[in-house]
This record gives sequence, C-alpha cells and structure tokens, in this order.
Amino acid sequence: MNILGVNAYHGDVSAALVCDGQLVAAVEEERYRRIKHCAGVPRHAMRACLEIGGLAPADVDVFAVSRDPRAHLWRKAWFLLRHRPGGTVSARARNMAGVRALPGVLADALGLDHARVRQRTRFVEHHPAHLASAAFVAPFDAAAVCAIDGFGDFVSTSWGRVAGSRLSVDGHVFYPHSLGMLYLAITQYLGFPSYGDEFKVMGLAPYGEPRFTREIASLVRLGNDGQFELDLSYFRHASEGVQMTWEDGSPTIGTVFTPKLESLLGPARRRDQPVDARHEAMAASLQAVFERAAMHVLRHVQKATGSTKLCLAGGCAMNSVANGKIREETGFRDVFIQPASGDNGTALGAAFYACHQLAGQPRAFVMQHGYWGPSFDDGTVVAALDAQEEFIAGQGCGRRLWTDEAALDDWTAAQIAGGRVVGWFQGRMEWGARALGNRSILADPRRADMRDIINTRIKFRERFRPFAPSILEEALDEYFVGAVPDPFMLQVYPVRPDKRAVVPAITHVDGSGRLQTVSPRSNQRYYDLIRAFARITGVPMLLNTSFNENEPIVLTPEQALDCFLRTSMDVLVIGRHVLERDVARTAESTRVELGNRVIG
Ligand SMILES: [Fe+2]
Repeated sequence: MNILGVNAYHGDVSAALVCDGQLVAAVEEERYRRIKHCAGVPRHAMRACLEIGGLAPADVDVFAVSRDPRAHLWRKAWFLLRHRPGGTVSARARNMAGVRALPGVLADALGLDHARVRQRTRFVEHHPAHLASAAFVAPFDAAAVCAIDGFGDFVSTSWGRVAGSRLSVDGHVFYPHSLGMLYLAITQYLGFPSYGDEFKVMGLAPYGEPRFTREIASLVRLGNDGQFELDLSYFRHASEGVQMTWEDGSPTIGTVFTPKLESLLGPARRRDQPVDARHEAMAASLQAVFERAAMHVLRHVQKATGSTKLCLAGGCAMNSVANGKIREETGFRDVFIQPASGDNGTALGAAFYACHQLAGQPRAFVMQHGYWGPSFDDGTVVAALDAQEEFIAGQGCGRRLWTDEAALDDWTAAQIAGGRVVGWFQGRMEWGARALGNRSILADPRRADMRDIINTRIKFRERFRPFAPSILEEALDEYFVGAVPDPFMLQVYPVRPDKRAVVPAITHVDGSGRLQTVSPRSNQRYYDLIRAFARITGVPMLLNTSFNENEPIVLTPEQALDCFLRTSMDVLVIGRHVLERDVARTAESTRVELGNRVIG
C-alpha cells in the first residue's frame, strides 16, 4: 500500500511517502520554493516523494492529510459563540474551506481525477498526526507519546500511548491555551517577528539571568493532570483574533500579545534596536518558564502512562535545550524525537497514522537516520559546475575531481584542521530543520574565532546564535555530561568543563552544546570524515552548520554552488568534486570583513 502524507495550508508544508509500512521519502516544500517555512500546498514535495519512490501519481492508494476540519467541531462552535474573536473567524473559515477542498487541489497538482483523490483521501487530525510522527517511527514497541505546539485543529498539547501499531490519545489541552503561543508572544515582544524565530530566543537565553521569571510565569497557570491555562489578558488570539496567513508562500502571524504585556515587562524591543542585557534576561526567563510548564506536562504523562519511554513531537519539541533536560527532570529514561518534529513532521505522521491506525498494518519501520530527501547523480553535479565554469575561474577557484573517497576525506579533514571552512554536499537531503552532514558547512570546533568567521563571512546572522557539533557516537561521554546518542541534533547537553577550552567554537556561552552523534548506522560517509579529522587533531567532532545563507538549506548542486560562490567559503565538496578558493585571497577578504562588519 502506497500512502502519500501531506501537510498543507499550515507552516512548513511537506510530503512523505510510506510504502508497505516503510518510509521511502520525506521532503519539505521550502527547499524547492526557497521560502523558509513555506505554506500553501506542497506541490514540489509531493512530486519529489513520488519520484524518489519510482511511483506515478496514480500509484498512490491513500492521500493522508494532516488536518481534519471536522475535529472538535462542538468545542470550536462553543468557543466562537462565547468569545466571538474578530479577524480569526473569517481567516479560520477560509483555511478550513481550503483544507476541505484539498483533494481537488492535490488532484490538480498531480494530474489525477478529482473523484479518485477524494475517495482516497483520509483527513488525520493535526495532533494525532504529530503523535504518530514520533510514535510510529521510534525504536520502541510501547511508549508514552506527547505533542506540544502552537495549535492545530483546536488542540495545542496532547498525550497518550503507543503499543505496537495502536495509538491512543488520553489527554488534551485545547485552544486558546498553548505553550507555543506563550513562546511566540515573548519572541515577538523581543523583536523577532518572523515565523519560526523562536529558536533565536532559545539561543539568546543562555546569555541572560532569568530575573523576569516571576513576571513571565504570571502569563501561564499550571493546573492538575498536566493541564495549563494562559492568562488571556496578555494575548490577542482568543479575543481580538490574530491574522495568520497559510496561503502559498511565507507564513505570517500578526502580533499575539496585548499592550498589557508592555505594562508588565516594559516597552517591547523594535527589531532595529540592539539586543541588550534586559532582552537577554527576558529570553532566559521565558526559557525557564517554558521548561517548567513543559516538564509539568511531561511529568503528568509519565505518571499517567507509567512508561519510561517517551516519543515527543510538536513545534515545542524543537526546543533542544528543554529536550536535554527531560531525562533529568521527569521519570522518562529514553526519549525519541524525529528530526521534523514541527508541522513539517505531520505529513510523515499522517502517512503512518493511515498505515497503522486506520489500515491496521503491523509496524515494520524504525527511523535510524534523517536523510529522506532527493539525491543528485554525478552528471547533474558536473552540469552544474560546467554551467558556472567561467564564474568559478573568475573567482580564482580551482576545480578537481577525486577518484578515491577515503583520500578526499583525509584531504577535506586536513583543510578543516587548517582553519578552512568547507561546504559539504553528499547523498540524500536531510528531512527536518537541521543539516546532519549531507548539506552542511563544516569547520574546526577547536578555533575560538571560527564562530565569528562563519557568522561574518558566510551566514550573515546574529552573533549570539551558537554553532553545533557533530561528534562520533563512541566519543560522546568523553566530551559531554549525561548525554545520550542523538543522530538528529535535538538535545542540548553540557560540554565537560575540561573540554570547553578544547572545542570553544561549539561551546555555547553557558557551556552547553546541541550535539549530533554520528555513527556508521546513521551516516557512514560523514562518520568517515569526522574520523579522518580525529586522526589529524585528536578531536572526534566537527562544527556543523546548515548549508545556506539566510535561506532554506540548499537542495541541489546548483544551489550549493551558488551559495559557495556568493559567500566566502574556502572549499566546496560535492560528491567527489572539489572547488577550492585561492588561499591568499580568502585570508585577505576575511581580515577586511572581520574588521568592518558587526552582526547582531
Ligand atoms: Fe503543530
């Protein structure tokens, strides 16, 4: 049975293909449209999944859509009658109409008959799709499951349990109460207005003292049995309504906090104002309040299920700082989070929900790695390089083809150890927000200045944002305290105090690091490269940041080449092809840029 999972008319639209219980492909639309968190309909992502699976659109047996307009209808109607929120009603109605009409839109996008697609479409409620995205691909037969996010189908938080191929939902927190909304409100207040900016505030938090915890804690009241409520006088979404756009293109969300928040905390930061100690303290306080509330939910889920294993999903499961504390602060001992735990992951969850929960198929799949996107053959790489031949030569870049992969790994590792920044493009594209060593920019974690070099020469991003390490799985304990292997880079742990000076470029200001463990099971090629670096330096890790520059992660060889040519990366490795910038020129431009630019 071929199931195409679809997340549409939400943020981070995506598609996933599951064939006979096995994940075949999972792709986010933003990589094709080159618009971060792209909303609308994932036309390119659906086609990419089918192409990877070698299927024609007519081969799809089930279209599993991760929304259900009929879910919680009475509750929605009751809420609307009581609160009569302004702008949200018409926007919500439009969105619902869009979701209902989706079978026709999918049919048009794939050149299929409307009636055929309608008959094969299953609407899977948003939160069960989140839960299934973790529960049905985790390495556990039975576990507790929990999803915490902004909202979807009127729910912000849900939990339950999975046993084999059965998922049961035991509890909910309903709209308008939401920890995602709490984080969003303070993120906007701190002057980060773009969709998905919450991770910037998480990166800022370790710089500050949490001295506004009491004030921010007054925005959320923790109740019994894992429940919580927002103080709605600080939020606009339930009363006045907030404009949200989920049409084609970039998703937008209007201001969700009320003027009362400024009475409580002082004036909000405008996006052009510098980030100061007060903002850092607020970020720290928000993170502390969020963690307290998330652990409150998770402790209840642990007690209610009696399980020590947790499958976690939802946008809030991207909070890697909180994720790293779950085992310490709750009774859970094993935590599984798949790499697209935000709304992108609901396409995957809807597909597996249709496979197991609706069709009753037994489970046959565990997600061991995060590489579920397309790959590109050597001919495509050569064509991309040939097309830019003149420009490449004009930039003083040398071009080489290596025949021996092991020798190329040794050479690349030596370049990184020598302080050069390498764009590394191999195999299938990553699924989820993190680059995991197939579309990555790599550098030496031992160099304290590497953070500034990458921020000013390549990424052009805020100075406070940390860089993450990819570490050989077997070396984890040598460098981190209390950490567990995570091939998806979703948990933050303390770097051992005696190692912080050894790897300053990946050690955040509070001594932590958001690590990715690499093993031959998850990525043999990347593992070999890190091993080559360890042979030269004695340090079994690389600094790994996503291959992009203020855009979605690169998808194709052309995009990788464009990014290389417009930034000041030193080396580009695509498959076995290498471009290398002139050493003297790069050093000179670095000095000039570091002297002139101040970011963040
Ligand atoms: Fe969600």
